[in-house]
Amino acid sequence: MLHTLHSDALSVELRALGGALNRVVTRDASGGTDLVLGHADDAHRAASTAYLGALVGPVANRIAGGRFVLDGHEHQLARNDRGNTLHGGPDGFSTRRWTFVEAGPDAATLALAWADPAGGMPGRFAASVTYRLRGPELSHAIAVATDTPTLAAPCLHPYFNLAGAGTIHDHILSVRAGRVVFTDATSLPAGDPVAVAGTPFDLRGGVRLGDVMAADHPQIAAAAGLDHAYLLDPGDGPAATLTDPASGRRVEVWTDQPSIQVFTGVTLSGDTAGLGGTPYPAFGGVALEAQQVPNAANRPEFGSIRIDADHPFRSTTRYLFTLV
Ligand code: GAL
Repeated sequence: MLHTLHSDALSVELRALGGALNRVVTRDASGGTDLVLGHADDAHRAASTAYLGALVGPVANRIAGGRFVLDGHEHQLARNDRGNTLHGGPDGFSTRRWTFVEAGPDAATLALAWADPAGGMPGRFAASVTYRLRGPELSHAIAVATDTPTLAAPCLHPYFNLAGAGTIHDHILSVRAGRVVFTDATSLPAGDPVAVAGTPFDLRGGVRLGDVMAADHPQIAAAAGLDHAYLLDPGDGPAATLTDPASGRRVEVWTDQPSIQVFTGVTLSGDTAGLGGTPYPAFGGVALEAQQVPNAANRPEFGSIRIDADHPFRSTTRYLFTLV
């Protein structure tokens, strides 16, 4: 099941499987350029481990050891990534078929009733995501309600490649973040947030991604690029801006979330087929994931991700494209 939104600038394809943003295509004389990575069919999406444009949850990124303590009770989740629980675990939001409850020309809402007692997450969840397209601006509003205290920190997981093909080495990325979280050998946040000033992690002024990925830094070597949570600074303007200098195309990310995970996509080449019928190359897209800080489940200083019957999760992120 799929649905397409249209504006004068863009066509946006949504998929029931994973509540996913599967395509964003320009509507221009060239016949259209794909701006995000997606899959040609659900079979490839179901077999993928890349979460291309998927709505991941209930808790995005990693929970250390799949364990957390909530209201004095320890919970053990199913683990699916080197001993940790990643992106909601093996049966997370992105593995399910969402239902289109509204599907108009420029807005659509998908809903999901989710529970995973076998996977260990307490609660019955009611999740929804509303995508809206207005000219060159696409937004998504995520809401997650529960019947019992539990954790929720979902996010959309879009990978951008504004050139429509090739790799993102020549893209320029800026992120309004003075701190980043380094990771251990399992990509789990480790240690205190680190100031980016004077390091290759400083993206505030806009940097060519190929230069960052080639920088001599043990964290960049270990991740074969970036796979790190940037802690957003307060301020005006977009949280992140990605530009393809060759085409002049650009996307600004505006969000109410406290962090953006930047993943430069080293593992994409090993994934299932993309929109073009073959896997994307390594570094074929950069994921910009507006989310709560990874492993907040075990790091109270990263902010609470507890929800209960009276306090649902809500967040909105907007992507403002400049097309030339
Ligand atoms: C990212 C995560 C990466 C990798 C990717 C999916 O969000 O940070 O480590 O798991 O998703 O392949």
